[in-house]
Amino acid sequence: MEKIVIYGGRPLKGNIAISGMKNAALPILMGCVLVQDECIIENLPEIHDVTVSLEILTAMGAKVRMLGKNSVAIDATGVRCGSAPLDLVNTIRASYYLMGAELGRFGRTRVGYPGGCDFGVRPIDQHLKGFKALGANADIVGGYVEGESDGGLKGSHIFFDLVSVGATINVMLAACMAEGSTEIENAAKEPHIVDLANFLNACGADIKGAGTDTIRINGVTELHGCTYTIIPDMIEAGTYMIAGVATEGDLTITDVIPKHLDCVSAKLREMGVTVEEGDDWVRVYHEGQLRPTNVKTLPYPGYPTDMQPQISILMCLANGTSTLKESVFDNRFRYIDELQRMGAKVNVVGKTAVFEGGGLSAANVRAVDLRAGAAMVIAGLAVEGKTEIDNIRLIERGYDHIIEKLQAVGADIAKVEIKESDAMKQAK
Ligand code: UD1
Repeated sequence: MEKIVIYGGRPLKGNIAISGMKNAALPILMGCVLVQDECIIENLPEIHDVTVSLEILTAMGAKVRMLGKNSVAIDATGVRCGSAPLDLVNTIRASYYLMGAELGRFGRTRVGYPGGCDFGVRPIDQHLKGFKALGANADIVGGYVEGESDGGLKGSHIFFDLVSVGATINVMLAACMAEGSTEIENAAKEPHIVDLANFLNACGADIKGAGTDTIRINGVTELHGCTYTIIPDMIEAGTYMIAGVATEGDLTITDVIPKHLDCVSAKLREMGVTVEEGDDWVRVYHEGQLRPTNVKTLPYPGYPTDMQPQISILMCLANGTSTLKESVFDNRFRYIDELQRMGAKVNVVGKTAVFEGGGLSAANVRAVDLRAGAAMVIAGLAVEGKTEIDNIRLIERGYDHIIEKLQAVGADIAKVEIKESDAMKQAK
């Protein structure tokens, strides 16, 4: 087991280059199951969830060849439906994209119930509703999602009850080789939805409207291979923007699409931060005390729930009262206990956290989920003294070389091995 050790209080200065987007890479990798040909995927982030996804595809019979650290060739011709190993599927959320991909390719699916971060109840009823509309009788049976269509999937009209990234992606995957046309209404509009549509269209699919709330898909009979480059990770970029601000540094984040960061940039400006933008970079710096702000998480283009824990650190450091309302997930404040360990003055009432500001102090904390773990790193970088963070495998699920990227801009941060005996003591 390993932990992160940070000696904080050093302003981060310099450039950080952003990797490919986790939440685009994962559905694109699973989407390769639809294609009986070789797909080359470039700008793949080096993160644990990508490694697990490639292990799942390999175990299912795909030929997976790394072409360097950030490119992979996948030929899914030999994939066997229903063969995804349960012990791997259970560890990541994105394994549920295999449901849509298997239904699209084979007209049936059997995939273990997905894992992923614990944000309270995470139902998949909208995914099942979409599959049923396409003619696949999908349900949860004994820890698996099973579904089968009689004579192949048929295009349909689907109106989601709520905006769901996962359900939108799954229905896109299932529908792109269904017979006839599909219309998805109340679709999610995140940049990774557009990226998946662009990948599938590069393989010969006919998907229009991705990025708006209505997506139209004309079914095609087969898909072919392509070479596709994944977009930059806006959540990784936003995390480093906030780390720069929290340490009173001056960071330029490169290889980004600034438009995807509009919502984060707007909030930082409200707090008194200067945000400059170029074609593919943003620069953040500020002088004096941060002003308080109010944030409510929303589906894109609103403020992303995956940037919620990170901005809480700025609210702890600001001069005055800020509120943070989570409106996407049921329970995304489990990390507040850890912040209180660092002296945060915060109260949670229902789905709103109220921060009094006034600062934080170094302490030993743990990552309770991926983005909350990143928030702990930001907090540790911001405060004087030694902060230790446990459970860092959760952070490594989604951040490509986070230690090295932060060291390169002046952070005193390292990953150290915990002795087995110490790890046992901590577990008690
Ligand atoms: C994806 C992302 C996650 C991000 C989230 C919101 C991946 C692997 N994960 O998660 O990082 O935080 O989008 O941007 O890309 N819901 C239902 N029924 C459903 C589906 C969802 O009630 O069938 C609810 C969820 O419980 C949640 C809300 O809808 O309250 C949004 O969830 P969704 O957009 O589906 O998130 P995920 O796809 O799970």
